[in-house]
Amino acid sequence: MYGISWRKLIAILPPLLSIIPSIAQQTSFARILIYSATRDFRHDSIPTAIQAMRTNQSAINAQFDNTEDQTQFNDQVLAQYDALVFLDNTGEVLDEAGKTAFQKYLDSGGNFVGIHAASDCLRNTTFYGNETGAFFDYHPPLQNATVDVIDNSHPSTSMLPAQWHVQDEMYNFKSDPRAIGATVILAANESSYTDPGPRRFNQGSPHPLAWYQEHGAGVENGGYAGRSFYTGLGHLNESWQNDLFIAHVMGGISWALQSNTTRAFNASAQVGNSQISPSSQSSSVSPSSTYVPSYSLSHASSESFRMADLPHPLHTGRPSPRV
Ligand SMILES: *[C@@H]1O[C@H](CO)[C@@H](O)[C@H](O)[C@H]1NC(C)=O
Ligand SMILES: *[C@@H]1O[C@H](CO)[C@@H](O)[C@H](O)[C@H]1NC(C)=O
Ligand SMILES: *[C@@H]1O[C@H](CO)[C@@H](O)[C@H](O)[C@H]1NC(C)=O
Ligand SMILES: *[C@@H]1O[C@H](CO)[C@@H](O)[C@H](O)[C@H]1NC(C)=O
Ligand SMILES: *[C@@H]1O[C@H](CO)[C@@H](O)[C@H](O)[C@H]1NC(C)=O
Ligand SMILES: *[C@@H]1O[C@H](CO)[C@@H](O)[C@H](O)[C@H]1NC(C)=O
Ligand SMILES: *[C@@H]1O[C@H](CO)[C@@H](O)[C@H](O)[C@H]1NC(C)=O
Ligand SMILES: *[C@@H]1O[C@H](CO)[C@@H](O)[C@H](O)[C@H]1NC(C)=O
Repeated sequence: MYGISWRKLIAILPPLLSIIPSIAQQTSFARILIYSATRDFRHDSIPTAIQAMRTNQSAINAQFDNTEDQTQFNDQVLAQYDALVFLDNTGEVLDEAGKTAFQKYLDSGGNFVGIHAASDCLRNTTFYGNETGAFFDYHPPLQNATVDVIDNSHPSTSMLPAQWHVQDEMYNFKSDPRAIGATVILAANESSYTDPGPRRFNQGSPHPLAWYQEHGAGVENGGYAGRSFYTGLGHLNESWQNDLFIAHVMGGISWALQSNTTRAFNASAQVGNSQISPSSQSSSVSPSSTYVPSYSLSHASSESFRMADLPHPLHTGRPSPRV
């Protein structure tokens, strides 16, 4: 006989297992790159959004950098990040070299988060649409609406009321994100607001507003997919000053990082951060400072800020007419 009975072994096994560190546990802080370049409509809430994410970065043991410089989309720069956050991008925000580096990043286990108008950029780039889950079509005017939490088991929704009253743009999409395997977690309650339409695409039901993909569908055959999270909410400065909304976004980002497919969580991963302490470059950016891009804005700034000055009450993903 052995010195210990099976019965005893079974009793002590679970506590023993729980103290063995998982190989997937976070080994260093996560680095995240926010990309907020715009070529069409520009949201004036972009600086507020970046500030809000930065202010809350320590809660998810992460460090955010941000840029609007498309030349930062190269293998060397992207490989340092555990996730890319596309924030309110519109139009053709990457050149061919940038798209190639982005695709390679996704194929290497990189994680993706899209926020609000991120579904309205790179409109002809199939892998981007798949990685985001769906392209934006149009939205009715900004108004109050009820958002139904249809899955509260996700870290981006678990803190929300079942019927969440928001003032935001209720986006319509050109396809149903469920068609590429996404799980929809927030839905627009269509009887709680007015949408003059017309609807030209089938986005499925209930009306998708936020979703996640365990394996982002933008990955190529043979690639190693990380996670993808998208929320259609976040138009106003007020959204980014609201604790529930920030918790929704930070929950989505944190969930994406937990794919364990990047270096902060997986020492053998191909992309992500492996430094133990925050880099001097970014720790010099005080969380309460005003919007200071980590990289040069020289390539994008003139166009971006000119766009910002244009009056543009609504925007639409339709090729024309633009309103
Ligand atoms: C990532 O690792 C954590 C433990 O560190 C684990 O709880 C989680 O389930 C893992 N996620 C995936 C997608 O494997
Ligand atoms: C939103 O905040 C930004 C600064 O973060 C400011 O420039 C902009 O005017 C604000 N928008 C509105 C509508 O108040
Ligand atoms: C996207 O495709 C449409 C339709 O083929 C075309 O008219 C448009 O010029 C393309 N846009 C870009 C940025 O390639
Ligand atoms: C990507 O999207 C296109 C068009 O929406 C679709 O036909 C294709 O099957 C998708 N590919 C993957 C890998 O999901
Ligand atoms: C819309 O919601 C905001 C808060 O989100 C509230 O302050 C405002 O009174 C609401 N407006 C209407 C017309 O209900
Ligand atoms: C949807 O909105 C309508 C109108 O505000 C409300 O009566 C109804 O209870 C809402 N339903 C759900 C499931 O949130
Ligand atoms: C974000 O940071 C602010 C300021 O420190 C804090 O009040 C708020 O609770 C944080 N929100 C989340 C979701 O952590
Ligand atoms: C960690 O990364 C390696 C190399 O990409 C991969 O084979 C392994 O499955 C990853 N672990 C997890 C938990 O995803």
